[in-house]
Amino acid sequence: MYLPTFTLEGRTALVTGAGRGIGRAIAIGLAEAGCNVALVSRTQADLEETADIIRQNTKAQAYVIPADITDRKQIEGAFEQLITETGRLDLLVNNAGMNIRTPALEVTDDQWETIVQTNLKSAFIASQTAGRYMKEHGGGKIINISSVGGHTALRTGVVYGSTKAALIQMTKVLALEWGKYGILVNAIGPWYFRTPLTEKILSDEQYMQDILDRTPLKRIGDLKEVVGPVVFLASDAANYMTGQTLLVDGGMSIYGF
Ligand SMILES: NC(=O)c1ccc[n+]([C@@H]2O[C@H](COP(=O)([O-])OP(=O)(O)OC[C@H]3O[C@@H](n4cnc5c(N)ncnc54)[C@H](OP(=O)(O)O)[C@@H]3O)[C@@H](O)[C@H]2O)c1
Repeated sequence: MYLPTFTLEGRTALVTGAGRGIGRAIAIGLAEAGCNVALVSRTQADLEETADIIRQNTKAQAYVIPADITDRKQIEGAFEQLITETGRLDLLVNNAGMNIRTPALEVTDDQWETIVQTNLKSAFIASQTAGRYMKEHGGGKIINISSVGGHTALRTGVVYGSTKAALIQMTKVLALEWGKYGILVNAIGPWYFRTPLTEKILSDEQYMQDILDRTPLKRIGDLKEVVGPVVFLASDAANYMTGQTLLVDGGMSIYGF
C-alpha cells in the first residue's frame, strides 16, 4: 500500500496569528485533521472566536494563548503554557504577519523595525524555541507563512517583500541545520486571499483587475486553498520534504510578461 496518511490525529500545533484571516483558517483546518491547536495572537476575543469554531465543529482541543510575538518572553511563555498543558509540540505554524505599504524612499526606521520584528524575527524566535523542544523530543515540523512577495517583486512594499524573502531563506537554513534532529521546516507562499490584511487593497477595482490579469486561474484564492497545502506539509504525506516553499498562487509566479 502506498497512500500515506494525511491525518494529524493526536498531534499538537501552535499557530501564530490564529485570531483572523489565514491563521484562523489554518488553525481550524488543522483541527479538522485531528490536531489540537494552541491559538496565539494579541487579541484574546479573536482567539476565543477561533476556539469556539474549533470546539463546535471538531473533536480537537483549542488552547487560547494571547501573546505579542514581538516579545521573546511572551513567545517562550506561550510554548511553555502549551507544553505544560498538553505535554507535546508537533508543529509550529509561523503565520502572524503585518504590512505597512510605503514607497521605499519614504520608509522610516520605525516601520522597518516593526515589520522585520513581526514578520521575521518573531518567526525565528518561535522556531528557535520550538526547535529546542523538538530536538529533545524526537523532531517535529515548522511551517512558515511567507508570500509570493518573497519570491518575486510585488507592489506590496520593500520591507514586507524583504521579510518574506528572508523567511524563505530561513526555512532552507533551518531545514539544513535541523534535519538531523528530525525537524522538518517548510514554507507556504500565498498570493492574494481575502482577509482583514488585504480587504482594503482588494476593494480597489483597478488593483483587483491587475491581480486577475496576472493570475492564470483568473481569481484570488479561497482560504481553504491555503489550508490544504499546510495540512499536507504537516502530515506524514510530506515526511521527505524539507526546506521547500510551496507557492499557493493560482499560477501567478509563472507569469512572465
Ligand atoms: N492575505 C493574503 O493575501 C496574504 C498573502 C500572502 C501572505 N500572507 C501572509 O499570511 C499571514 C496571515 O495574513 P492575513 O492576511 O491572515 O493577516 P491578518 O488578517 O492581518 O491576520 C494577522 C494575524 O496575525 C496576528 N498578529 C499580528 N501581529 C502580531 C503580533 N505582534 N503578535 C501576535 N500576533 C500578531 C493578528 O492578531 P493581532 O493583531 O490581534 O495580534 C492576526 O491574528 C501573514 O504572514 C501574511 O503576510 C497573506
